[in-house]
Formats: sequence, C-alpha cells, structure tokens
Amino acid sequence: MKFELTEEHLMIQKAARDFAQNELLPGVIERDEHQKFPAEQIKKLGELGFLGMMVDPKYGGAGLDTISYVLAMEEISKVDASASVVMSVNNSLVCWGLETFGSEEQKQKYLTPMAKGEKIGAFCLSEPEAGSDATSQRTTAIDKGDHYLLNGTKNWITNGSTASYYLVMAQTAADKKHKGLNCLIVEKRMPGFTIGPKQNKLGIRGSDTHSLMFTDVKVPKANRIGEDGFGFKFAMKTLSGGRIGIASQALGIASGAYELALAYSKQRKAFGKEISKHQAIQFKLADMATQIEAARLMCLKAAWLKDKHENYDLAGSMAKLYSSKVAMDTTIEAVQIHGGYGFVKEYHVERLMRDAKITQIYEGTSEVQKIVISRAVIG
Ligand code: CAA
Repeated sequence: MKFELTEEHLMIQKAARDFAQNELLPGVIERDEHQKFPAEQIKKLGELGFLGMMVDPKYGGAGLDTISYVLAMEEISKVDASASVVMSVNNSLVCWGLETFGSEEQKQKYLTPMAKGEKIGAFCLSEPEAGSDATSQRTTAIDKGDHYLLNGTKNWITNGSTASYYLVMAQTAADKKHKGLNCLIVEKRMPGFTIGPKQNKLGIRGSDTHSLMFTDVKVPKANRIGEDGFGFKFAMKTLSGGRIGIASQALGIASGAYELALAYSKQRKAFGKEISKHQAIQFKLADMATQIEAARLMCLKAAWLKDKHENYDLAGSMAKLYSSKVAMDTTIEAVQIHGGYGFVKEYHVERLMRDAKITQIYEGTSEVQKIVISRAVIG
C-alpha cells in the first residue's frame, strides 16, 4: 500500500487550486447572493479539461484517473461548490455514463462536445414523487417504433437551463416496474421540452436547478442508452460513481472552511493572545483536521477501487455519508471559530455552511447511503 500521490496528481491538484483561487474566488460572494451561474468560469474549466476529466482523449476527454478527479473536486469545492456541482454532474453522471454504456454514435455526437466542455449535460432521475424512492418513476417513454414519446416532469435538475443534453429516465413498460425504465438522451431544442423557473436555494446558489417538463417529446430510438429496460441499472451504476464526486465536493467544502478557520484563529486575538492559543479553539481545529483527513482517505479509497475496476458501490456510499457529515459539522465549527465575523458573507464560511447541507441530500440522501451500506454489510 502506498499513500503517495504521483507527480501528475500533484500537478492536477495545483492546477485546480490555482484555478479556484484566481478564477473562482473573485466574485463568488456576488454569484451566491444573486444566484448567478458561473458561466465564464465553467467555460474555462472546460477548456482546461476539468469537465471531461476521466473520458478517453479520443472522445475529447483528459484521460485522467478518478483520483485526479477527487483531488480537483476538493480544490474547486473549497472555493465554489456551485461550480463544482456542475463539474461533478458533467463528469460523473453524464460523461462517465455515456462513455461506459453509450453507443459509438452517441459518444461521437453527445459525449465528445460535453467532455471538451463545449456543451454541458444534465442527469434527470428525480421527480416530484420519486426522490429517494427512485423506482417510482412516472415519466413515460412510450415506444412508437422508430422513436419514443416522452411525457412527464423532472425535479431538482442540476444544470437544468444551462445544459444542452439531458439524460432522462422514463418508464416504457410500467408492468415491468424498474425493469421497464429507459434512459433517453434528450436535446434541449426538441419540441415539447420546457424548462421551469430556477429554484431559489439555501446553498449552491450559483448552480442552476430547475424542474423540466416533457410534453409529447419525440426522442429517436437511437438516443436510448443500452438495451431496452436498462434505464434503472444505468441510473444506479452512474450514481455510484457520482457519489464519489459529491463525497469529494463535501470534502472540499469542509477543508475550505477549515483552512479559513485555521488562518483566522492565528490572527484574531482575544483575552491577550491569538485564539489559536486557546485550548477551546485548538480542540475544535484538532477534531476538524482529523475528520477531514478521514474523509479524504475514504474518497481516495473509493476512487482507487474505481480505477482498479473493482466494486466501489460500498466505498462510494461510505465516503459520501461520512464526508457530507464532516462538511456539515466542520462548516458549523468554522463559523463558530469566526464568531460574529463568521455570520457575515465577507468571511466565506457562512456560504460554505449553507453549501454543505445539499451534500447530505443530493445523489442520494444520507439515509439512502445507509440503505446501500447496510445491505452490503448485512447481506
Ligand atoms: N449497480 C447496479 N445495479 C444496482 C445498483 C448498483 N449500484 N443498485 C441497485 N441496483 C439494481 C438492483 O440490483 C436491482 O436489480 P434487479 O431488480 O435486477 O435485481 C434494482 O437495481 C433495484 O434495486 P433495489 O431493489 O435495491 O431498489 P430499491 O427500490 O430498494 O432502491 C435505493 C434502492 C438505493 C434506495 C435507490 O433507489 C437509490 O439509490 N435511490 C436514490 C436515488 C438518488 O440517488 N437520486 C439522486 C438523483 S440525481 C442527483 O441528485 C443529481 C444532481 O442533480 C446533483
């Protein structure tokens, strides 16, 4: 066992850190306040290869491993979790799924522009009445020979208005339950596809989250991913990898808040000395540092398993469950260490605390992770 990053890993980590400090930090408070999508920054992330990190270069990707992805996700999320969720959805839920299960034609037409970052993708599973209970899909895709007729509503869709291509899960044969589901690639320009208003959220306010409505949208058969009825398996397999991305996002939110709290504790004086010299603060910092290190190791372990083509479902769910709790706990403590300053926007930690919450909800709530974990350990 080797606990060492390669030269290439360190280079990618540094590139992501520099990008976060130079391109994302300026304006992050205003984007959060005004719910402004980081459009220019996402374009640059795409040009640098961060939107198709693990995709084969022959499809426009950077051809990197999952460990590189975790390192980059942590650095970007330290500063701007609204940008990192775009990165996570595009990399894990859209590009990975298409590259692994898509046809050659789908890879040429849809994967390549998304891996290059020229277009963005969205993953559409959640519905008004199908969140954690993902098998209860009401959106229908009726087989009409050479195409499907798509009808229904999807909720909480990240990249809802900025995406060009949408992977939409829909029911083709209700009698087969989840085995009757298909995943269809829907283009924004297809008639009958409408985008609802942007959700006004507690955190990750720069990302665009929307409901999507489909009314008699004609989707060519060639846009179905995999065999007829593969949709639910596709969603589950894709989400397993997505959970490593969100675990890394949570890790980044936690380590970003911790670094700010550590620096602040060394300059802020109270009772005649820096607050870092008070044991009350030292113990908080010790707990934060320990929990973050454990979360980081769990994220890297899940990524390492994925890179070795071993099963990473359990490790990914454990990493997400733990890292998202660490993100919540650490950001609350970071605000506490900052005292009154932590409660105002200029110091960043209040935003990180709001951003942390979603990591316990999306790509499977903490309770969903516990279902996956308990089934694996109990059998
Ligand atoms: N890989 C492959 N197949 C899997 C799988 C996996 N990881 N997990 C489950 N399956 C298969 C099962 O083997 C089973 O197949 P068979 O019927 O052929 O045996 C089938 O899927 C059904 O599985 P379960 O019986 O376990 O299904 P369940 O109804 O008990 O649900 C669940 C399990 C874990 C709760 C699942 O429904 C789930 O993960 N729910 C959460 C959904 C979710 O994460 N939504 C997030 C939306 S996307 C998002 O947030 C993105 C964003 O915008 C940021």
